[in-house]
Amino acid sequence: MARITVFNQKGGVGKTTTALNLAAALARAGQHPLAIDLDPQAHLTTLSGVRVTDASESVYAHYRDNKLLATVMRDTGRGWSILPAHLELSKVDTQFGKGPNILNRLKLQLLREQLNGVRPVVIDCSPLLGVLSLSAIFAADKVLVPVSADYLAVRGAEQVEKTLNALGPVLKKRIQRRYVITRFDGRRNMSHDIYNAMRATFGDDVCETRICESVSVAESPYAEKDVFAHAPSSRGAKDYQALYDELTSSRFLDEDDAPAKSPLDAVFGAISAETARPSGTFAHFLRAN
Ligand SMILES: Nc1ncnc2c1ncn2[C@@H]1O[C@H](COP(=O)(O)OP(=O)(O)OP(=O)(O)O)[C@@H](O)[C@H]1O
Ligand SMILES: [Mg+2]
Repeated sequence: MARITVFNQKGGVGKTTTALNLAAALARAGQHPLAIDLDPQAHLTTLSGVRVTDASESVYAHYRDNKLLATVMRDTGRGWSILPAHLELSKVDTQFGKGPNILNRLKLQLLREQLNGVRPVVIDCSPLLGVLSLSAIFAADKVLVPVSADYLAVRGAEQVEKTLNALGPVLKKRIQRRYVITRFDGRRNMSHDIYNAMRATFGDDVCETRICESVSVAESPYAEKDVFAHAPSSRGAKDYQALYDELTSSRFLDEDDAPAKSPLDAVFGAISAETARPSGTFAHFLRAN
């Protein structure tokens, strides 16, 4: 099933909130998703009600000790499982940043362990475009980009578009993406202007659903719950259900029906070509972004 990475290089735009509530909506639809927390801040882990006391219990154990992902997978008891994060994940960039296979490691491991298969995967990223976020994009077949309804966030969306377009030739396909406006305030002209500007720039890649600024979404993290569990009939629950419904009806949550011809070969080919040259795409790409 689909692997969705929730990504935006800009911080605080609603990535974790969206990853959490998308996982919860998938769970409510009986799909038992696998959430992957690739942000060392580990907010998705905490909000999923999972406690991790040591890095060895987190996805970092896979990077550091080659542990199987399945050994750190936890059932949240809420209808989804999670590969939890830990602060030490932040070391991946410095420890493995130059390894040629690192960007594809998560994807390969998910395939090897068959953790995807019949269940959708939702990956939460940190606001940095480093090795972890790139490997999340490589592991996913679709990217969901929350954009909060303010002008700086729109500039950030342009940056994300550039990043995804730059990765397209590496993966030999256009990376499917959807932008979703978060923290939308219908009383503010600016919110409407931003939605219209996003539609004018990115067309149908922008979800019609807007996630409104709401008390229910703001308060649910304090209860360490998703918005459906915290306030089932709230504005926030309705918005995230509407987002799920839109993504489902537009088939964004289906498996990629036009995957790269041989994505692993493409990536490895590009990486090998890269490592054969003194300065190549990835190093350059990481520096430039
Ligand atoms: N629709 C909303 N209404 C009210 N508050 C919101 C809404 N969406 C997100 N928030 C709040 O905004 C803050 C940032 O959201 P979130 O943590 O999801 O962003 P993020 O993009 O994951 O941040 P980071 O880049 O640090 O990982 C949180 O306190 C969250 O509860
Ligand atoms: Mg976050």
